Formats: sequence, structure tokens, C-alpha cells
Amino acid sequence: MFDRLFAAPGIAAHLGDLKSRPRRWLVTGAAGFIGSNLVESLLRLDQEVVGLDNFATGHQRNLEELLAAVTPEQAARFRLLTGDIRDARTCAEACAGAEIVLHQAALGSVPRSIADPLTSHEVNVTGFVQMLEAARQAGVQRFVYAASSSTYGDEPNLPKREERIGNPLSPYAVTKLVNELYAAVYARSYGFKATGLRYFNVFGPRQDPHGPYAAVIPRWVDALLEGEGIVINGDGETSRDFCFVANAVQANLLAALAPEERQGEVFNVAVGERTSLNQLFALLRDGLARHGRPTNGEASYGPFRAGDVRHSEADIAKAREMLGYSPTHDIAAGIEAALPWYLAQAPLKA
Ligand SMILES: NC(=O)c1ccc[n+]([C@@H]2O[C@H](COP(=O)([O-])OP(=O)(O)OC[C@H]3O[C@@H](n4cnc5c(N)ncnc54)[C@H](O)[C@@H]3O)[C@@H](O)[C@H]2O)c1
Repeated sequence: MFDRLFAAPGIAAHLGDLKSRPRRWLVTGAAGFIGSNLVESLLRLDQEVVGLDNFATGHQRNLEELLAAVTPEQAARFRLLTGDIRDARTCAEACAGAEIVLHQAALGSVPRSIADPLTSHEVNVTGFVQMLEAARQAGVQRFVYAASSSTYGDEPNLPKREERIGNPLSPYAVTKLVNELYAAVYARSYGFKATGLRYFNVFGPRQDPHGPYAAVIPRWVDALLEGEGIVINGDGETSRDFCFVANAVQANLLAALAPEERQGEVFNVAVGERTSLNQLFALLRDGLARHGRPTNGEASYGPFRAGDVRHSEADIAKAREMLGYSPTHDIAAGIEAALPWYLAQAPLKA
């Protein structure tokens, strides 16, 4: 994954500069799925990294795994701050000395936000503003945050273009839309620019397969490795633009390193291709078989899930043009790169 990521034209152009003048980065949500992949990528590039996390959904094992994957010198450039983004003092401490913030900490999942809208609001909105304010006060130069494709809500047109959004369909989507509104207001009111990356269904190593709010790819792989059947919500023709995590890392690095005049925008981060849940199931089943783990698990169909949009596909032209973003992994390449990690997690499973 890292060879391809660092060879992406946009990233390759920055490698010399990053290595000769390492930056000080803060990654919030560092123990989570995307955050831990960001930290690992930055350490591999010899950067100084502070991670902030309260382990609400992240795991110590993610940090241990990434620190074991880099050299001892690179691992020594990482410092973890355990704390909550809802706490102003924690945010100030985390931002002190940081040049670049990659803000990933949030409570993900549409169903979680429907079950508990208040906590999603506190973390995703109050915590976001706490981070934005702390970063502004600390004189942080670049602030890049995890926005979401859920912001497109009921906007019917495909592919999704940044300037055309609909009504949010869940409390989670509201929180991510509010992030964008605050980011725009911070630019207007204080001249402090924050760049939003609207991720579309990111997947890859270290995405948690467990719990009621697990995302579809790790949940299905886990079930298939257990020899269990999986339940597809709806008729299986619901589609998504599945984005391998290396693409999300690339977008973060490019956004953070882009010149001042390109800060403060919102960008789609995806591949620009649509895959139905039925196609996804076939890709995973065939991938596991190719890796010597044929599965008996069948797909059955259940009710559609509340708050889900029917189809999702990104237009990634804006990120391509303004950031030089160029996805290195389509869904098939991403699954191929991720499967060894899943298999390593489940060596004893049938
Ligand atoms: N994975 C996706 O497909 C996807 C899609 C769109 C947007 N996003 C956004 O990307 C970001 C990262 O998502 P992820 O998939 O890596 O999820 P994740 O749950 O693996 O990571 C989130 C991390 O934030 C931490 N966190 C949560 N609340 C916190 C708090 N109050 N204080 C400090 N840390 C806290 C968690 O412990 C966890 O480590 C989130 O903002 C999410 O909303 C993800």
C-alpha cells in the first residue's frame, strides 16, 4: 500500500521536501482506522506526529501495530495524548506546537447517530469546534478535517459534485454538514481556513469489524471467515463508491501540503466508481477464495436500513484538479491489499 501511495505523482513531488524539512503533525482519532493509517504514513515519511484519542472506538492495538511496522527511529517521533476533543484544555495541549492538524476524531456511523444523536452531536460538532478554536489559537498553519459523503443526503444526481448537496438524512449527516458550515465561518470570521475531505465509504486495514456499527466490508469479511452467511440490507443494488484507505491518506497529505490559496475548500475523496452490494459480496467471496479461504457463507436479503442513501458515487474532478489527487487503488486493488490484514487477524478461523 505504501509503495503505491508514495509513488502517486502528487505525493512523490513532496517526498524530498517532507524528508528534508519534517513537519509537526497532530492527528486526532489516531487510534482509529483512518487516523492510524495517517500516523503510519507520516512516520514512514520521517515526520513528527502527535496523536490524540480517547479510545471511544479506537484501539491501542492499532497504535501498537503501526509502531511495530515503522523503524524504531520513526516510532520515536510519535507521541500519544489520551484525551477527549470535547475538552478545551486537551485540544489546546494537543495543538501546541503543531503545524498541521489532520482532524479525524468523531463518532462515525449513521445508525449510531440515530440511536444516540446527543453524543454524536457533542463529539462531532462541539468537539469539532473545540479543535478548530484550539488550532486557531495555537497558530496552526493547516487544518484538514474528515467530512463525509453523507452530507449529500437526498441530493439525487450522480455523480456527486461538491457544490450540490441535499437534505441530510441522519443526525450523523447533520454533524458533518455543520462541520463544513463552521469551517466556512472560521474562514470568513477569522481568516482561519480548514479543508474538508468528504470521504466516501473508506475501507482497509485496521477498520474495526466488530460491534453493532461496523462498516460493511470488515463486517462481511469477518462473517465470511467465520463461515457465516451475511445479510444484505435491501435488494443488494444499493451502491457505494468504496475508497481504499491509501486514497484517503493521499488526499489528506495533498490537502495539507497544498498552497494557502487552495486551503478552505471541500473535496470529495473516493475513486469515482460505483459498486453495488451484490458486486461487493462477489468481490469479497472471490478474493477470499483466491487467498485460499473459500467460504460457504451465502448472502440473504433483509430490510433497507433507515437513513441510508440508495446510490453514492463521487465526482473527484475537483480534488484531481486542485490537489493533484489521483487514487492509487480502485475497489478491487484495495480489497486485494486489505485481505492479507484480515486474514492475519483471523488465522484460526474456518
Ligand atoms: N470510514 C469511513 O468510511 C468514513 C466515511 C466518512 C467519514 N468518515 C470520518 O472519518 C473519521 C475517521 O473515521 P474512522 O472510520 O477512522 O473511524 P474510527 O472510529 O476508527 O476512528 C475515530 C477515532 O476517533 C476517536 N474518538 C472518538 N471520539 C473521540 C473524542 N471525543 N475524543 C478523542 N477521540 C475520539 C475514536 O476513539 C477513534 O479512534 C471520522 O471523522 C468519520 O466520521 C469516515
